[in-house]
Amino acid sequence: MVALSDAMREVVGLAERVATTDANVLVTGESGAGKDALASFIHSRSPRAAQPLVKIDCATLPADLLEAELFGYERGAFTGATEAKPGRLEAAHRGTLVLDEIAHLPLDAQAKLLRVIEHREFERLGGRQTIEIDTRLVALTNADLKNAVERRAFRDDLFYRLNVVQLQLPPLRERGEDLAELSRGFLKSFAVKHGRVAKQISAEAQKFLRAYDFPGNVRELANIIERAVIVSTGAEIEAADLPESTRVAAARRERKAQQPTLAAVEAEYVHETLTATKGNKTEAARILGISRKNLYERLAREQKK
Ligand SMILES: Nc1ncnc2c1ncn2[C@@H]1O[C@H](COP(=O)(O)OP(=O)(O)OP(=O)(O)O)[C@@H](O)[C@H]1O
Ligand SMILES: [Mg+2]
Repeated sequence: MVALSDAMREVVGLAERVATTDANVLVTGESGAGKDALASFIHSRSPRAAQPLVKIDCATLPADLLEAELFGYERGAFTGATEAKPGRLEAAHRGTLVLDEIAHLPLDAQAKLLRVIEHREFERLGGRQTIEIDTRLVALTNADLKNAVERRAFRDDLFYRLNVVQLQLPPLRERGEDLAELSRGFLKSFAVKHGRVAKQISAEAQKFLRAYDFPGNVRELANIIERAVIVSTGAEIEAADLPESTRVAAARRERKAQQPTLAAVEAEYVHETLTATKGNKTEAARILGISRKNLYERLAREQKK
């Protein structure tokens, strides 16, 4: 894992230390920040590394299906259960079970999971036989789980059991030192994937990337670099190879950082509106709440500058 920034070095350092134990871990972070990557890292550095790493996504499956997937079921447990099937928990025996989007785990399943943690046992759906289980839990969330506890959507006893060690992944925009290294790694792998030579990123394109705030974090950076590798025709990855939205957002952020005057902000908004109306001045004036004459005067004033 790339971890050059202080914030990431701290998180990865803590992850390495906790990996050697069986303690449950809660990984928090924005979408695309690397929660899955960190969970795999913990497993790979743990004494369980040679055993299975199993994942279940609590957000995508409906409640009954999720329980069936997690705990497994016996034949006849529900309509359509024509054969018994072990769940992911059993698959993760002696290994690690990653519970993605844990905030979405229904309350019934939360109670069963608590029993797994406290007594290391459970039954399959429709089953009478108690199964003993040894698995390490890594729970992931991009939601504020403490808040879910306060709303009583998440059991507090389970929260404390999962939250033995919490690893908070910082968003990419707070990890400036990681950006170049991550970009280089993605450049190499996408160049291989698409049969291109790995180019450098031009100084100007790097400037745009540094000014961008990456709401989609590392995953968004990966997408941006993959696209650039594909569309780039020059000797370097240029700013023009970055998506329009990235360039616009970065330019806006940079301008804000310079604390512009009111006139400059107004002028920028006038131009944004004109772009949005594809140059239609009547429509732009209507949106801006000024007369067409006023709009023409503003544009003329700018021309003189
Ligand atoms: N520190 C890192 N070093 C290298 N690659 C990383 C790092 N962090 C994340 N990635 C890569 O970025 C992508 C997104 O990461 P990941 O899927 O782990 O994010 P996530 O937090 O689980 O996102 P989501 O909330 O959408 O599930 C993956 O391809 C992952 O390999
Ligand atoms: Mg994920």
